[in-house]
Amino acid sequence: MARIAEFAPAKINLCLHVTGQREDGYHLLETIVMFADIGDRVHVEAAREDRFSLSGPFAPELDAARDNIVVRARDMLRDAFPDIARPVSIHLEKNLPVASGIGGGSADAAASLKALRALWRIPQNADLADLALQLGADVPMCLAGQPLVARGIGERIALLPSVAPLPIVLANPLTGVSTPEIFSRLASKTNPGIPEISSISGFHQLIDFLKDLRNDLELPARTIAPEIDTINRALQDAGAALARMSGSGATCFGLYPSLEDAQSAASELQRRFPRWYVAAGRCIGSQNATGKAMQ
Ligand code: C5P
Repeated sequence: MARIAEFAPAKINLCLHVTGQREDGYHLLETIVMFADIGDRVHVEAAREDRFSLSGPFAPELDAARDNIVVRARDMLRDAFPDIARPVSIHLEKNLPVASGIGGGSADAAASLKALRALWRIPQNADLADLALQLGADVPMCLAGQPLVARGIGERIALLPSVAPLPIVLANPLTGVSTPEIFSRLASKTNPGIPEISSISGFHQLIDFLKDLRNDLELPARTIAPEIDTINRALQDAGAALARMSGSGATCFGLYPSLEDAQSAASELQRRFPRWYVAAGRCIGSQNATGKAMQ
């Protein structure tokens, strides 16, 4: 019987500017997003009846018996394609910390949609973006899974051409933060957007470009998780060219010129802060990238 595994990469907001608020309360943002080779994994397999199970270091923080976004994704896709959807066993390998600003739940939902689309042989050209948006504002970008700029509440997506893989360290103090709470603590909701991106050809050029940008959610997040300051300083002490919070936090990322630099920074951080979640890897370049790290 067919088994399908789909990687659910961590979503990294290289910058996130909050530019307004809709009448329904959702915030308008402009964000540059890349996806890491660090993430969860979703396995799906045809079964006699629906099942959902969990494993991995952060599985204990979720409850398979309670509402999970993966199960909601399954049910929504089945409702949209009732004639071809069959019972399915879904297993989620939860490697990313929960409620941590790197899109874990959104990535899991997007990976589930992709895996189930393959298992149920839903036509590849069926547009799942609307369905993804109903699952969460970040799910459409996770479905795209490539370097991109997102606007609106996150659903207006423009893919970025030819971005090279980007070495990165993720660090989280294992303080879960609530996204609505962080948004509600924003002092200003009408900040300037991000400039047009023409072409960014190398690591140093990207860093220069990003240095002028910011994550508007970092300040409110620091009022709930003051460790964010410590993490960013620790990433910089370990040689990061840029350190910043992702999403609504509390995960911060450091960007490094090479994978070796990122790996030794991660070892240093883990030694200094043994209780933190720390991972090194690379943000994945666009499909037509050469596979070489930025120089
Ligand atoms: O869409 P999602 O369920 O991931 O969003 C969680 C919460 O985060 C929303 O209910 C909203 O309070 C907040 N949010 C927001 N603006 C966004 C995305 C999320 O205010 N663009």
